[in-house]
Amino acid sequence: MSIIKNLFTNISDPKQTTTRKVTVVGIGAVGMATAFSLLCQGITNDVCLIDVMEDRLRGEAMDLLHGSLFLKNPKISASKDFTESAGSKVIIITAGVRQQEGESRLDLVQRNANIMKTTIPNLVAQSPDAVLIVVSNPCDILTYVAWKLSKLPIHRVFGSGTNLDSSRFRFLISQKLGCSTSSVHGWIIGEHGDSSVPVWSGVNVAGVRLKEVSPKLGEDDDPELWKKVHKDVIEAAYQIIKLKGFTNWAIGLSAASLANTVLTNQHNVHAVSVMTKGRHGLDYEVFLSLPAVIGSNGVEKVVMQHLSPSERCALKFSAAMMADIQAGIKL
Ligand code: 2OP
Repeated sequence: MSIIKNLFTNISDPKQTTTRKVTVVGIGAVGMATAFSLLCQGITNDVCLIDVMEDRLRGEAMDLLHGSLFLKNPKISASKDFTESAGSKVIIITAGVRQQEGESRLDLVQRNANIMKTTIPNLVAQSPDAVLIVVSNPCDILTYVAWKLSKLPIHRVFGSGTNLDSSRFRFLISQKLGCSTSSVHGWIIGEHGDSSVPVWSGVNVAGVRLKEVSPKLGEDDDPELWKKVHKDVIEAAYQIIKLKGFTNWAIGLSAASLANTVLTNQHNVHAVSVMTKGRHGLDYEVFLSLPAVIGSNGVEKVVMQHLSPSERCALKFSAAMMADIQAGIKL
């Protein structure tokens, strides 16, 4: 007599699907940091890994499953077959080549757009109701590419964008002020990259705007050189790539935080890459980061910050650059 028949009396058949399935496409350092962040924080218990490297896929799934005792007994699947991703609520795209030392994110555009061409339509066919979060770089342009290829409504495709830049910005300011990162409020918008825009006018602690305390905040002639904080944000990835070859932990945590907001319908505001046409006087069909309310339907609303003329001008410069590069992509 089998142990199972002797050990249990059946009451009902267990469900094989959950309502919080997340597919992570790409099992490189960023994809695995994202999957690990999702599982360790209990954001989901149902993760599907999609890539082309079959042995690596099996190894990563096995290695994570062997930690099940320390997680919440997750369901982890891994395949190069897109059907494995069926029924995903959130699909996080991390696949693609990453910056090498000396490369900017924009240098990766055509190579990673080509990967999108072979992945996005297949993923959407398996999960037509999913929200797509694009992490691969250059994030803003690849979010546009993903939106076009997916044919999904505009609110169900966004990029992780400057969710990470804003985290770095708030962290670096918190280090200068001696308080926690979560107690410093500040936003970086625009390109997830070299032309990002710090909204200094909005930086505050407990509602006290730093610009009121120090009117030169973020200006070139600021005696306290706060402008360097934004410079350090822009240089962060380059510095880390020089030191360890890639970034993955912070971007993984950033992507997981966005998936959490979608899965739990939190209506949190995140700086994410959204369609900017018609906002802040922008007329290009490009994605750039703006503070947006995110829920289970994806992007719900965009917060229209009161930008200074220089902030609007910098955003317009980013948008023009994205449009120019986008025009050269072969889809
Ligand atoms: C980052 O900013 C490389 O976009 C990635 O960490």
